[in-house]
Amino acid sequence: MTAHRKKVAVLISGRGSNMEALIVAARAVDYPAEITTVISSQPDAPGLTFARNAGIATVALDHKTFQAREAFEAALQTALDAAGVELIALAGFMRLMTPDFVGRWRDRMINIHPSLLPSFKGLHTHEQALSAGVRVAGCTVHFVRAELDSGPIIAQAAVAVQSGDTAATLADRVLAAEHKLYPAALRLVAAGQIHVDGEKTIGYEDVNQTTALFSPPLQG
Ligand code: GAR
Repeated sequence: MTAHRKKVAVLISGRGSNMEALIVAARAVDYPAEITTVISSQPDAPGLTFARNAGIATVALDHKTFQAREAFEAALQTALDAAGVELIALAGFMRLMTPDFVGRWRDRMINIHPSLLPSFKGLHTHEQALSAGVRVAGCTVHFVRAELDSGPIIAQAAVAVQSGDTAATLADRVLAAEHKLYPAALRLVAAGQIHVDGEKTIGYEDVNQTTALFSPPLQG
């Protein structure tokens, strides 16, 4: 018997490359989630084309046509209910959500952010990292809370900053890590392998991964 696959909505606003990584990962027979719906806050989001071509139902909710955030979220909730969605994965979804909506989806809504949270919240994360002079950057998948880019951390990937990095070159390498991290994190959540306990997550299995990432690399 096939185990229940959690029905997931991916919410996007643009390119959708993380959405694409989730859709591709969810094609595996043993993946514990299926992407049933892609919802975009921008009707012309490039990511919608990939989703449609992949045979996934898409909904475009043009946020500009809603007078208030609450009205946008009511339409969003209707679309989620219609598709029987159990988990939401935000993937470059650039709309702030009300505490009411976030509370309704507490511990059932996850987000990917291109920094090692809690550092560098908000926009222009790679510029922030470079101007702070950090040697290690990265990305984070977390449960969503009402405060911007905060909530229990599910998974992180670290990326070494290189001396010649610009925001664009760093973004490219972090994005490549995002595409691996997000499907892995959604797998943990959908399989019920990770739980929130006191605003931290518990439950993943430790593996013997003892090698540190050194940046700059050790010499000799
Ligand atoms: C990704 O880098 C994602 O981490 C970031 O937007 C990009 C979307 O790219 N999200 C945020 O900054 C949210 N705070 P994509 O549309 O190709 O997945």
